[in-house]
Amino acid sequence: MTASDDSNKHASTHGETIVTHAGRDPFANHGFVNTPVYRGSTVLFRTLDAYESRQQKYVYGRRGSPTSDSLCEAIAAMEGGTRTWVMPSGAAAIAAVLLSFTKAGDHILMVDTVYQPTRKMCEGVMKRYGVETTYYDPTIGAGISALMKPNTALVFTESPGSLTFEIQDIAAIAKAVHAKGALVVMDNTWSGGVFFKPFAHGVDLSIQAATKYIVGHADAMLGSVTAADPAIAAQLVSEAQALGICAGTEEMYLGLRGLRTIEVRMQRHWQSGVEIARWLEARPEVARVLHPALESHPQHHLWKRDFTGASGLFAIELKPCGRPALAAFLDGMKLFGMGASWGGFESLMIPYNAAPSRTATQWSPKGPTLRLHIGLEAVADIKADLEAGFARLKSAA
Ligand SMILES: Cc1ncc(COP(=O)(O)O)c(C=O)c1O
Repeated sequence: MTASDDSNKHASTHGETIVTHAGRDPFANHGFVNTPVYRGSTVLFRTLDAYESRQQKYVYGRRGSPTSDSLCEAIAAMEGGTRTWVMPSGAAAIAAVLLSFTKAGDHILMVDTVYQPTRKMCEGVMKRYGVETTYYDPTIGAGISALMKPNTALVFTESPGSLTFEIQDIAAIAKAVHAKGALVVMDNTWSGGVFFKPFAHGVDLSIQAATKYIVGHADAMLGSVTAADPAIAAQLVSEAQALGICAGTEEMYLGLRGLRTIEVRMQRHWQSGVEIARWLEARPEVARVLHPALESHPQHHLWKRDFTGASGLFAIELKPCGRPALAAFLDGMKLFGMGASWGGFESLMIPYNAAPSRTATQWSPKGPTLRLHIGLEAVADIKADLEAGFARLKSAA
């Protein structure tokens, strides 16, 4: 790496190399390895001609900076797209896509297992603006064709669902949706953009709640939307700018910092997650483990076909137990924190009930369901924390 203009021209197709180098231009920054935090609203022009022609790379803070360019380039390279726009949160990324690629009178097909606030966006803002939504079974595959209407503008996928972990046949959906001229959107957060390359499977717009694995340290809110097709990407950027969406520069720096180590972190989340999932599957207190990388998962074949790994997020269904037993299990956890989000370095566990937010499918577990995020702690310590929890659960039952 000798000159500023060749820093991004790494030829590798290996994810580890891409996330280490993409979006960095050290010699445009006095040799410093990382693109700095450019704070700024105003960008100055030297002359009247320059001001009137706007022919310089950066014109105003909201419209981009070297920091946002670095992050956008790196995420686009990681996910295999051509252009990314970063957003202040994952929810903002979802809202921006829904607003930017529909108009009054349009129809959305939304996966029934979607992240609940995405559903809220459809039932609230989108409905108010005259866009109707139909929810579909995540396992529908090519059958999506039958639900397409002449006014279906986009089909939204999330694979796996982030509470109940159904894997979707994205390629079959994309083929059917493209045949009818609509767009395929995917919330690709679970894979971190590492284990599933959306554009190779026909996705048009890929969303990351970068708050999770890209940031990776539970210390910032961030989102991204990436497109592969240049016209779709241009529409995305133009609409996001019209909506005034720009992420904070410190948060973007934290996103870049997290992204550099995402490949190694994801490997560890994957290994530890699968080991804990298998261990839980053998526990007498556990009725079912919902982890796509386990052979027992109903769409394991699709995970195996399409994904190159698994993140640290999965769920378990306990055998029926009372609330005091569940509280004893959760309240005494030493390593597992109880709180929203996932994708950070630390283990988390929350109880949930997916039933109230289903309309096209049913969710009826026999016992309490818990979502686990397996962090980067030693597996032996994570098992010991769970083991002690099961002892508390037993004695409180
Ligand atoms: C699957 C999924 N998508 C999107 C989001 C929203 O991301 P954010 O919290 O950054 O708004 C979340 C957050 O939990 C999520 O789990």
